Amino acid sequence: MASGGSNISSTSHSFHLSLLTLTLLLLLLPSSSALPHTHTDNPITRFQNYLRINTAHPTPDYTSAVTFLKAQAQSIGLLHQTFEFVPGKPLLLLSWPGSNPSLPSILLNSHLDSVPAEPLKWLHPPFSAHRTPDGNIFARGAQDDKCIAMQYLEAIRNLKARGFTPTRSLHVSLVPDEEIGGFHGHARFVESKEFEELKVGFALDEGQASPGDEFRVFYADRFPWHLKIKAKGQPGHGSMMYDNSAMENLMKSVEIVSRFRESEFDVVKAGKAANSEVVSVNPVYLKAGVTSDNGFAMNVQPSEAEAGFDLRLTPTTDPEEMKRRIAAEWAPAARNMSYEIIEKGPIRDHLGRPMMTATNDSNPWWLVFKQAITSAGGKLSKPEILPSTTDARFIRHKGIPVLGFSPMRNTPILLHDHNEHLQETVYLKGIEVYESLISSLSSFTEASH
Ligand SMILES: *[C@@H]1O[C@H](CO)[C@@H](O)[C@H](O)[C@H]1NC(C)=O
Ligand SMILES: *[C@@H]1O[C@H](CO)[C@@H](O)[C@H](O)[C@H]1NC(C)=O
Ligand SMILES: [Zn+2]
Repeated sequence: MASGGSNISSTSHSFHLSLLTLTLLLLLLPSSSALPHTHTDNPITRFQNYLRINTAHPTPDYTSAVTFLKAQAQSIGLLHQTFEFVPGKPLLLLSWPGSNPSLPSILLNSHLDSVPAEPLKWLHPPFSAHRTPDGNIFARGAQDDKCIAMQYLEAIRNLKARGFTPTRSLHVSLVPDEEIGGFHGHARFVESKEFEELKVGFALDEGQASPGDEFRVFYADRFPWHLKIKAKGQPGHGSMMYDNSAMENLMKSVEIVSRFRESEFDVVKAGKAANSEVVSVNPVYLKAGVTSDNGFAMNVQPSEAEAGFDLRLTPTTDPEEMKRRIAAEWAPAARNMSYEIIEKGPIRDHLGRPMMTATNDSNPWWLVFKQAITSAGGKLSKPEILPSTTDARFIRHKGIPVLGFSPMRNTPILLHDHNEHLQETVYLKGIEVYESLISSLSSFTEASH
């Protein structure tokens, strides 16, 4: 509402008054009171301390991260074990035994590593965990996903302090290498006998920030394929027009791939599906030409040409159907083309089913999850497929239900971006949300598995 001059002055007057009141309050408060930033050890400083450990690739400091988290676990009173399925890649497992350890357990997962940052493009150094006066904490990993690791631990700390005992055992896995595919981290873990012995019944893994008021939850990942298409053909003088040169053969394929891409994208543009619900295919490199001293020989039509694509399949895409399309239309041998697919992990679970966690009444864990969010005063938006890929797929591959969830609402999505940051009030609210989730999930005894 517009306001006249007198309104403005009265606003600034009361502003001064409240500042004065605040200053007085601060002076009068005893040092043991609840203002978080006057203490050296509180949830925010502990989060900052974890963020300051540089676990970015290509040289993640796993040793310091594990040492730090182990000390946290000890101060809370959790059991801890460190595994090294691959030398130099430690995996820390923390456990809170339940009163009925024969029931399947709950697993909370978070990765130790993060993607690199370009410090010169940041407002604050990416491993300083700088806190601005308005409570934003800047760090690589603040959203992806060191926040959830520390929130799990803070929630457990608070529940323990209140005398809560879980019925099901609760485990927290802190794993290496997620950002480079997880093949030496979670992928090895789920295949181990140690994982088998945990008898995991339900798991939570990372999700993504939500710019709106509602929390987001993810029931599946998409599956990346790296596709290389190669064309061969008759080389010849640049002046000649003839059929079936390598370049001509490749260009035909690029056109066909582009038409497929457009048809998928049209579904998104028409509002009929989210980006993550269609197959995406994006050209990422082109390689051709005969090199000469000053660049490319402009008068030679090359005998080979190649293009690379980032392809993401949805959980319901039929991989065999996709391969048939690639072989028949995108890289037909009849046009002297060949292709190579590098599949980044499994696309069906161990029983050959699409890897999706049910988000309806058929899944009792879903109902408990939803109820726990409501109890914490939160609302969920429509469950989504994650556009990218996480370690959750390795757990889903075992047929275990897992939801991707990072409790960050009213937060810009900054994973892998410059100036990744998280507002401390959002972080602290997330701890409350996990208290609700952990107490509900670990007390839930009606699931048959
Ligand atoms: C395939 O390659 C062979 C040998 O270079 C060539 O003779 C033929 O024309 C090519 N065919 C097509 C369809 O490109
Ligand atoms: C629940 O969702 C799954 C897949 O997400 C579906 O196969 C199943 O039919 C649904 N069940 C009910 C009861 O709606
Ligand atoms: Zn992540």
